[in-house]
Amino acid sequence: MSLLKEPDYGTPPKPGPAVVDVEIDGLPVTVAEGTSVMRAAALAGVDIPKLCATDRLDAFGSCRLCVVEIDGRRGTPASCTTPVAPGMSVRTQTPKVAKLRQGVMELYISDHPLDCLTCSANGDCELQDMAGAVGLRQVRYGYQGQNHLDATADRSNPYFDFEPSKCIACSRCVRACGEIQGTFALTIEGRGFDSKVSAGAGESFMDSECVSCGACVQACPTATLQEKTVLQLGMPTRSVVTTCAYCGVGCSFKAELRGTELVRMVPHKDGGANEGHSCVKGRFAFGYATHPDRRLKPMVRERITDEWREVSWEEAIGTVARRMREIQAAHGPDAIGAISSSRCTNEEVFVVQKMVRAAFGNNNVDTCARVCHSPTGYGLKQTFGESAGTQDFRSVAAADVIVVIGANPTDGHPVFASRMKKRLREGARLIVIDPRRIDLVRSPHIEAAHHLQLRPGTNVAVVNALAHVAVTEGLVDKGFVADRCEGFAEWAAFIARPEHSPEAVEGITGVPADELRAAARLYAGAPNGAIYYGLGVTEHSQGSTMVMGMANLAMACGNLGRDGVGVNPLRGQNNVQGSCDMGSFPHELPGYRHVSDDAVRTVFEKLWDRPILADPGLRIPNMFDAAVAGSFRGLFVHGEDIAQSDPNLQHVTAALTAMDLVVVQDLFLNETAKFAHVFLPGASFLEKDGTFTNAERRINRVRAVMKPKSGKHEWQIVCEIATAMGYPMSYTHPSEIMDEIASVTPTFTGVSFELLDKLGSVQWPCNPQAPEGTPVMHVDEFTRGKGKFVVTAYVPTDERSTRKFPLILTTGRILSQYNVGAQTRRTENVAWHREDILELHPHDAEVRGITDGDTVRLASRVGQTTLRAHISDRMPTGVVYTTFHHPVTGANVVTTENSDWATNCPEYKVTAVQVGLAI
Ligand code: SF4
Ligand code: SF4
Ligand code: SF4
Ligand code: FES
Repeated sequence: MSLLKEPDYGTPPKPGPAVVDVEIDGLPVTVAEGTSVMRAAALAGVDIPKLCATDRLDAFGSCRLCVVEIDGRRGTPASCTTPVAPGMSVRTQTPKVAKLRQGVMELYISDHPLDCLTCSANGDCELQDMAGAVGLRQVRYGYQGQNHLDATADRSNPYFDFEPSKCIACSRCVRACGEIQGTFALTIEGRGFDSKVSAGAGESFMDSECVSCGACVQACPTATLQEKTVLQLGMPTRSVVTTCAYCGVGCSFKAELRGTELVRMVPHKDGGANEGHSCVKGRFAFGYATHPDRRLKPMVRERITDEWREVSWEEAIGTVARRMREIQAAHGPDAIGAISSSRCTNEEVFVVQKMVRAAFGNNNVDTCARVCHSPTGYGLKQTFGESAGTQDFRSVAAADVIVVIGANPTDGHPVFASRMKKRLREGARLIVIDPRRIDLVRSPHIEAAHHLQLRPGTNVAVVNALAHVAVTEGLVDKGFVADRCEGFAEWAAFIARPEHSPEAVEGITGVPADELRAAARLYAGAPNGAIYYGLGVTEHSQGSTMVMGMANLAMACGNLGRDGVGVNPLRGQNNVQGSCDMGSFPHELPGYRHVSDDAVRTVFEKLWDRPILADPGLRIPNMFDAAVAGSFRGLFVHGEDIAQSDPNLQHVTAALTAMDLVVVQDLFLNETAKFAHVFLPGASFLEKDGTFTNAERRINRVRAVMKPKSGKHEWQIVCEIATAMGYPMSYTHPSEIMDEIASVTPTFTGVSFELLDKLGSVQWPCNPQAPEGTPVMHVDEFTRGKGKFVVTAYVPTDERSTRKFPLILTTGRILSQYNVGAQTRRTENVAWHREDILELHPHDAEVRGITDGDTVRLASRVGQTTLRAHISDRMPTGVVYTTFHHPVTGANVVTTENSDWATNCPEYKVTAVQVGLAI
């Protein structure tokens, strides 16, 4: 594909059914009421020159390049700020407006470096385009007057430069930072000739509040804000539309290349999840894909103490197949298994679980989603009948009250956070339920109505108390409950018990009762109340209970089945939803159907021509236990670093060490590879063809920007292992794998690469009843028929603070880094976060003699590590916090083996610890 230029209609669309008929240069056009003349003209195929306007931002009306004449009106109004009116007749090209536009352009050009031919933006500069569009032939003012040509550049940001000599003070960057990103890092300082863009008094971009999302770079019509890669490599010449491989927001990007070299990733305006926005990871942090640390050759070794030996693909695959079969011959068919990755494509995940079920002959497949969102799958399936979030991201624009529980969207899901912040600036109220004062609690133009700063581990007590208020204060949506739900009476009797009142649980949760009551009234009384949650909900011993507790609350308040409401998991990794959908759990075939279901098994058995066991296989923690016990001896680990990301690492490493064969397929020799006997080089997302499914159930296409550097596709490697083990598996293209998925998975029946290429993306269920997908679920009825209230008793976690371990550790992530950091640590993102830091409250620091920046020892009953301390009142006393992005810190050395009662999701968010100065 040549360079994809998306049309810019100048001003945003106006929603609403009412329409207006107008005429632009004699062309009739019908547009929505409130549409600008500029947009109406663009829709009629007439381009009006513009500089300060773009359709991602509200009209500003500063450059005066877009003036037009309107019959019956005096003067020359700016078309970007003038709304259409019925019967309006507009003329965009008259001698009068031509003269005005030329005058405007002369002023701009007289204060602009005349280096177009050597400028990095040559060919992609709106100023250059407009000079042509208005027919500028001369600059009467000359170039000798006062100008900004010697303004100093700011090159502090690792990814983009700011070259103020080229700035035309259109303020598109300033408005993009506010309106789109919601950070408000930029201002226009000074007035008139002295006005200039500023990231804060005397501050560079790096020192400012800027979070490097790139929205300003995207909005800049000149080369003033420019990606460094464009400066280094030149303007790209072709585009490939693909999907970010970092978080579960699933942003669409145009990968822009020059020849075979990737120059930049530009957020795609047509992307359903992001609509043209991005964060620093997807926009800029792709350098890991070509990092020299990548291993591109297969390697084997007899023992983990031996040196690696590079071998051919045939030898590597043959070794895996032979040794897996030898283990099965010696120790039984159940002695081997696999872990699939939520970072890989749906097609790759599908073939891994197929290999396990059809070639290994067991159900010993699990996924890294086990350690993050398995309680979401369980809890939402029990209550609503579908293991997925209820809304699309767009829905937040209709929410009146937004509840954020155990999630930190500005760091973890930044592009969705920008959407949410926009709605909050428009007036929606916010309730944050989190032990830590996350940024959303107070940020520019946003202040949470309530921050319920609960003690870690008491989520269920809080959600029960919220529901108690709704039930006992008559705030239940009786009509919704009567028509659409079951089990209400039993649940309501349970939740109305006095022990669930805010007053009764205050001593447990630490949340003041009156604050909790007020929050409950706000949510329950809202026309549209929406719940968004993250791992702070799921990674608990009661993760599944809490998911059901939120579902109960939403049903009781009638907050399901339309825009602006719902229960919405914010998924951590790019394909957590997809890896669960694809049957990666040991008890479920694709589409969340239990392996014990004879009818379902028969479908797969017929297709795959192999019997499938009716008993669930081993979950990851069971695999580790069995490995230590000696009965589980061979593991294929696909794109997952379990030796860094899983809890209680001593146990994990003991299990890995005990196995006869550990196979790691990954980009890098990660921590798990230290215990591996075979290393199979993986492909980065830039080398993949397939699909990811994001947190809104949106299936997005991933398209290869380059060929796999290792010479093989990941799905191909898996197929070849299965084939070498005696079960032939082959496809000529991943679209064939999707066809197979669609043929056996009811929610995917209508999905194909052809449909995705036509529509851009679809949200499952996509089937004959919903041929273009399902943005909002459970509209008329729940997937299971009636929504089911489930009694959710609060059971305190076994993990308690003690005299020896008096603090509670909770974990999270930071904007610039991603999970175990294997990718982001290999990019310039380390400029923002070089190490994991322990945050602790000033009081907890003081009593331990700790000052900011000290190196401290963090110990739990299972292990200890050292890291630097940051003193912060974001934490309540008694709670400390860290990230887990750097293997050297090994934060999971201290996390315990406690896990969710229903799904074994580890309890990362509650660990009793002690902190002291490192000696
Ligand atoms: S990169 Fe993003 S956060 Fe930084 S100044 Fe630009 S728009 Fe604002
Ligand atoms: S930096 Fe770019 S977007 Fe910002 S005011 Fe200058 S020209 Fe406009
Ligand atoms: S929000 Fe998530 S999906 Fe979007 S660019 Fe950032 S990391 Fe990628
Ligand atoms: S584009 Fe309308 S005033 Fe600038």
